[in-house]
Amino acid sequence: MKSIIVYYSLEGNTEYTAKEIAAKLDADLLRLEPVKAYPTGKVSKFVWGGKSAMMAETPQLKPYQFDAAAYDCIIFGFPVWASNIVPPLRTFIRSENLKGKTFAAFACQTADGAGKAFAKLRTELGIDSLAAELILLDPKSKPNAANAQKITAFCDSPCFHK
Ligand SMILES: Cc1cc2nc3c(=O)[nH]c(=O)nc-3n(C[C@H](O)[C@H](O)[C@H](O)COP(=O)(O)O)c2cc1C
Repeated sequence: MKSIIVYYSLEGNTEYTAKEIAAKLDADLLRLEPVKAYPTGKVSKFVWGGKSAMMAETPQLKPYQFDAAAYDCIIFGFPVWASNIVPPLRTFIRSENLKGKTFAAFACQTADGAGKAFAKLRTELGIDSLAAELILLDPKSKPNAANAQKITAFCDSPCFHK
């Protein structure tokens, strides 16, 4: 099984998790970046990112390299925004032919909403269930000893070891 982690991260928590998982699974990494970056200011990030998430936008992405045929499994990583997936992920999913792939996902959040975001992701992918799911609470900005165990359990999922 060859996996790729396709992720977006505004402030590093998702990127931190993506790199931990990539190291354990020997997976490739693809960081999505919108042409027009989302702001990181204390208030502006919630205003602009929140609006973009709620409106289910599909922002244009910077060019990236991705060969779907090279992968059996695609792991999506994202910060929960307004209980939704991040817009750059939606752009990617709608732009690529991902038929026949196994899908897994992890989400970073401060408090709540990942369950709803996973449901939106399943709808976007047209599937009933994800092969593996992981939810972490701000793993980079609020380190917690339990996170390593959760990441290991996620990486031990049978879907990655067929
Ligand atoms: C626009 C926006 C909306 C957010 N909405 C939620 C939310 O609905 N629930 C939640 O628990 N955290 C929410 N957060 C917090 C992030 O999901 C959380 O801090 C995450 O770990 C950030 O990941 P990153 O560092 O990879 O960007 C939101 C953050 C932003 C910027």
